[in-house]
Amino acid sequence: MNLLTPFTLGSLTLSNRVVMAPLTRRRAGEGKLPTALMANYYAQRAGAGLIISEATEVDPRSIPDAPSRPGLFNAAQAQAWARVADEVHRAGGRIFVQLSHLGRASHPLLLVKGEQPVAPSAIAGKGVAFTREGPLPFPVPRALDIAEICDVIDQFAVAALLAREAGFDGVEIHAANGYLIDQFIRSGSNRRTDAYGGPVENRTRLLLEVTEAVAALWGVDRVGVRLSPWSDFNGMSDEDPLHTFCYAAEALDQIGIAYLHLVEPAGQTPGLSPVLRQKFGGALIVAGGYGHETAEAAIEDGTTDLVAFGEGFIANPDLPERFRLGLPLNTADRSTFYAGGATGYTDYPYLDAHQVLQ
Ligand SMILES: Cc1cc2nc3c(=O)[nH]c(=O)nc-3n(C[C@H](O)[C@H](O)[C@H](O)COP(=O)(O)O)c2cc1C
Repeated sequence: MNLLTPFTLGSLTLSNRVVMAPLTRRRAGEGKLPTALMANYYAQRAGAGLIISEATEVDPRSIPDAPSRPGLFNAAQAQAWARVADEVHRAGGRIFVQLSHLGRASHPLLLVKGEQPVAPSAIAGKGVAFTREGPLPFPVPRALDIAEICDVIDQFAVAALLAREAGFDGVEIHAANGYLIDQFIRSGSNRRTDAYGGPVENRTRLLLEVTEAVAALWGVDRVGVRLSPWSDFNGMSDEDPLHTFCYAAEALDQIGIAYLHLVEPAGQTPGLSPVLRQKFGGALIVAGGYGHETAEAAIEDGTTDLVAFGEGFIANPDLPERFRLGLPLNTADRSTFYAGGATGYTDYPYLDAHQVLQ
């Protein structure tokens, strides 16, 4: 039952090692403000040792549409997030905010004045942006200049400061799944010839500068980074994932952040988690298709310290308790993942007393 034992993460004591994975649900209100419904959804899941919020936009050029992904680039958003953090804390939970910049995985209809999405290089991602006119293919982005890269680092720093005001317990930097920082890290999307492109030391520069800026505001023990070495989501690729991500893990170890969060499918072969564990001295979280037994085994054999669950937490607000009692799980309804409203969001049933007594 290692999964359900407490864990010391930096300066925090978590009640168990079951992490709620970051999950975009597109239910923020006008102005990209978190809503009371969102506060309720997260508070329902406060039995997780740690909740990581859905990807939260740092780019102030994001249009204030609703329903949408939430933002954290102004005081109103910080105030609205404060209610979420407060309700999670009152329910006994801990919550980090996941800070994200879409980069090329965006569309002019998602940016004020119809601006072009930005990226390390003018190479389009593969996939669609969800706009008011429906899903539309990602267009060719515009390459950021050096001054604009400094602005991006500032945007993460501003969001990190607002996250403190909101009362979060820490910050996770989203460097996974084909969004802006990942676009810099991986060779398939970064063809720059300046200090932010070419060798891995340059491709990881944005990741490390953002991490240092956020850690300067929070302290290293309240900062984590999410990476997805294998994922081709959003059209990502890298010529040498082992080399790229070993370098990133060692550099993040030098900064001394609290955790590395690796999206690596359960049973992935070859797996990077055992290698990165040698390179990184902080805690490791893995995510990707884990169930109760595979999560227990991964902790037992030392592969990881904590395991994050995505769909499991969407469908089971009381997931750790179900694990504890060995009781069946609800199945997630994928048709409501991004559907807006309470259906498929806050109405998944808790265990009832009848099931518990059986
Ligand atoms: C609806 C949905 C939304 C997601 N949103 C995010 C996100 O905002 N940020 C992120 O890093 N990963 C996101 N993911 C990936 C999950 O965090 C997780 O890595 C993935 O679901 C695999 O874990 P699972 O098999 O336990 O669901 C999302 C996944 C789903 C299903």
